[in-house]
Amino acid sequence: MSDDALRHKWDTRYRDQTVDETRAARVLTDNLHLLPAQGRALDLACGLGAHACLLARAGLTVEAWDLSPVAIATLATHAEHEGLPIQAQVRDALAAPPPPDSYDVIVVVHFLERTLAPALVAALRPGGLLFYQTFAGVGPGPGNPAYRLARGEILHLFAELTPVVYREEHDIGDGSRGLRGEALLVAQRP
Ligand SMILES: C[S@@+](CC[C@H](N)C(=O)[O-])C[C@H]1O[C@@H](n2cnc3c(N)ncnc32)[C@H](O)[C@@H]1O
Repeated sequence: MSDDALRHKWDTRYRDQTVDETRAARVLTDNLHLLPAQGRALDLACGLGAHACLLARAGLTVEAWDLSPVAIATLATHAEHEGLPIQAQVRDALAAPPPPDSYDVIVVVHFLERTLAPALVAALRPGGLLFYQTFAGVGPGPGNPAYRLARGEILHLFAELTPVVYREEHDIGDGSRGLRGEALLVAQRP
């Protein structure tokens, strides 16, 4: 899919939506206590920016990047209304990845671009934390395996980081309970 087609697809999806901060992913909501009291954070491929809002409410100075101008405009309006320190930016994270040694916290949810992993690791400051959650194995979400992690893959992608929280339940036990079809990782740059 071309960049224009991708942008159009996401713009169309976001056009009638508002920011819903309650829809943040568990990698962040279950682990808010791990955030530093202050610092610089990035919500990459932020969509409407629920995670950016939680980071800002936790006291961090936040950048939020997404390809979709519609999503970024909606987030910017919400942040201004709520008085949240979020710099929302239309930015293609592949064309312009985050610069090295720049962030205390990076959050990526439901966006998988494997080639970006080394840049994400490098973009953390020493001691910085990556919060990553996306689709894995089988389950709801994209059917294309390119957009789903293989079992354990998240640990390999970010092997240079020290795992702090890792959850991936695969098909173990009662599949009607727990966090299924997704993997999550909180990991720290040494
Ligand atoms: C499934 S949504 C997830 C949005 C958000 N992280 C969330 O959890 O609600 C995937 C997002 O990735 C964005 N995206 C896709 N490719 C991108 C790229 N190269 N750079 C920045 N954002 C991108 C899309 O515009 C879309 O908002």
